Amino acid sequence: MNQSITLRKPDDWHVHLRDGDMLAMALPATAENFRRAIVMPNLTPAVTTTALALAYRERIQQLLPENSNFEPLMTCFLTDATDPDNIAQGFADGVLAAAKMYPANSTTNSATGVSDVSKIYPVLERMQTIGMPLLIHGEVTDKHVDIFDREKIFIDNILTKLRADLPELRIVLEHITTEDAAQFVSGAGANTAATITPHHLIINRNAMFNGGIRPHMYCLPVAKRERHRLALRQAATSGETCFFLGTDSAPHLRQEKESACGCAGVFSSPVAIELYAQVFEEEQSLEKLEGFASIHGPNFYNRPVNEEIISLVRSPWQPPESFMVSGNDHVCVFGSGLELNWRQEE
Ligand code: NCD
Ligand code: ZN
Repeated sequence: MNQSITLRKPDDWHVHLRDGDMLAMALPATAENFRRAIVMPNLTPAVTTTALALAYRERIQQLLPENSNFEPLMTCFLTDATDPDNIAQGFADGVLAAAKMYPANSTTNSATGVSDVSKIYPVLERMQTIGMPLLIHGEVTDKHVDIFDREKIFIDNILTKLRADLPELRIVLEHITTEDAAQFVSGAGANTAATITPHHLIINRNAMFNGGIRPHMYCLPVAKRERHRLALRQAATSGETCFFLGTDSAPHLRQEKESACGCAGVFSSPVAIELYAQVFEEEQSLEKLEGFASIHGPNFYNRPVNEEIISLVRSPWQPPESFMVSGNDHVCVFGSGLELNWRQEE
């Protein structure tokens, strides 16, 4: 039995770092555990332009300790009104790493997202030409569509056509939750990839209703049935280069999750690499962890892999329950009820 694992330092290809006090709380967990992270733009107001992304990057950098080599990779939030010149310039200048498409009203702070993908074809065509990745929250928002079907219907009704219309556009389908998504991405060729979160590898939809309603298990896209969780575990541990690490760590204050209309999102970045290691060990695929966590992502984003090495040691522990934000406010940590086998060495 392995007692330790070493791997290149991972990157997180999908994280919500927030702003203000929440940013100050969330940033250390990401900056210590990951060399780079793709930072989501769904602030209020959203990060819709290169100038806003630059200002947000500066707020992040100001909170980093001097000796940190963490690199925030910024994204901009696409709207029906996005100016192709603006984001192309941001990409050329190295301010923007990618652009994010949220269908309007699909998730937290997405009301000003894209109302119809056909409206932003000029932007997407430009992104295709310059090689700028498109990151997609892949759910339809029609209230008549069952919430558990929203990802599959998005793939069938929107993504399949988009993929065919713009074959060279680099697309990441974010935080996939279904067997359908894993199959689509696996068969869609070299310009299509997907991130997979630790929580979607660990819980199925029953976790939200285990003895009562469990708001801390609620995120979007919502966890699906067991067969989908098993398909995601297979995809993540397959060694296929189209699948890589993206935590979708998305902190909300405890009281905003434990409410009559609780927010979607789980906070996992402090324990994410340990959660993934647990899953890969359970799937007898620990040798595939480095590819998923540290190699496939940089390759897809055309960036160098990290040279720094981290070690995980077998040393059972329980993650902390919560992190303080300010005053009495805190954020609960996903995985805090679990005993984890692997712990990262300081
Ligand atoms: C995210 C958030 O809170 O910003 N929530 C979530 O459940 N994942 C938004 C998102 O990525 O959908
Ligand atoms: Zn997200």
